[in-house]
Amino acid sequence: MTDPLSSGVDRVDFTGVAWGSVEWTLLCMLYLRAHESRQPESILGDHHAAAAVERIEYDWARIHRVVRPTVNQYGAALRGTYFDAAIGAFSAAHPSATVVHLGCGLHSRAFRISAPSLRWFDVDLPQIIALRSQLYAETDRYRMIGSSVTETDWMSQLPVGGPAVIAAEGLLMYLTEPQVLELVRRLTSRFDSGEVVADLLSPWGPRLSRMFTSGIITWGSRDGTEIASAAPTLQLVDSRSVVDGFHRIPRKTARLLYRLQHAIPATRDYDRLYRYTF
Ligand SMILES: C[S@@+](CC[C@H](N)C(=O)[O-])C[C@H]1O[C@@H](n2cnc3c(N)ncnc32)[C@H](O)[C@@H]1O
Repeated sequence: MTDPLSSGVDRVDFTGVAWGSVEWTLLCMLYLRAHESRQPESILGDHHAAAAVERIEYDWARIHRVVRPTVNQYGAALRGTYFDAAIGAFSAAHPSATVVHLGCGLHSRAFRISAPSLRWFDVDLPQIIALRSQLYAETDRYRMIGSSVTETDWMSQLPVGGPAVIAAEGLLMYLTEPQVLELVRRLTSRFDSGEVVADLLSPWGPRLSRMFTSGIITWGSRDGTEIASAAPTLQLVDSRSVVDGFHRIPRKTARLLYRLQHAIPATRDYDRLYRYTF
């Protein structure tokens, strides 16, 4: 099946994507969502990811061995459903809203939540958008912007005013706190009203990252209230753990592992979901 917003090319060759690169991690995430969508009781149902994987030339068998989708697919699915539900509910109430989807990677969310008059902007680093553009095509209501979100020029491509939902899944932990607050302040001041939806790692995120990697995780939030301080109108209206929905996992062994993760406060609160209104 070809994605309705595909670039029109049936097969795309991503074999040049280096193993272990940022682009490769995005292929892994796409694969996890595609794999989960093929389960009989899929949580996220990301059939667009499955269609994308079918179109991409890559060593998927090798990716399968590395990402071990038996368990990991559910973390991606549980996190993804929160964003889908928040954006879906907001766009149902505001059909002509703007969606600013930050750090989109290869996510197919724009095609899952399709409302005819919604304006959708997928934003990521230029090299990621270059890759993404081989897979998906722009329309007059769907745009891709290649820029670091810490730059400001790209925002001039967004409309001004009206309702907007600003979503950042798996992104803000790679920025510093001042960068996050400035980004949120600038974006929320551009629109009349709306919501911000994001997941944030706990302060353990940067600590563990320094211990085990070169420190790519740069920000961890105590309780999400830091973001609410970015603008006076921002209010934190919901906060929950990514693994709160563990009971939805259909496979018994995987459900048990996520249940254990949920029972221990440090692991339960490692990646939390937050929703703000403005
Ligand atoms: C963990 S991935 C999540 C991707 C996607 N949201 C998903 O859930 O599949 C983080 C994404 O943030 C992007 N990213 C990191 N730093 C960024 C920045 N400064 N500006 C824009 N995007 C950035 C990366 O390129 C990557 O696509």
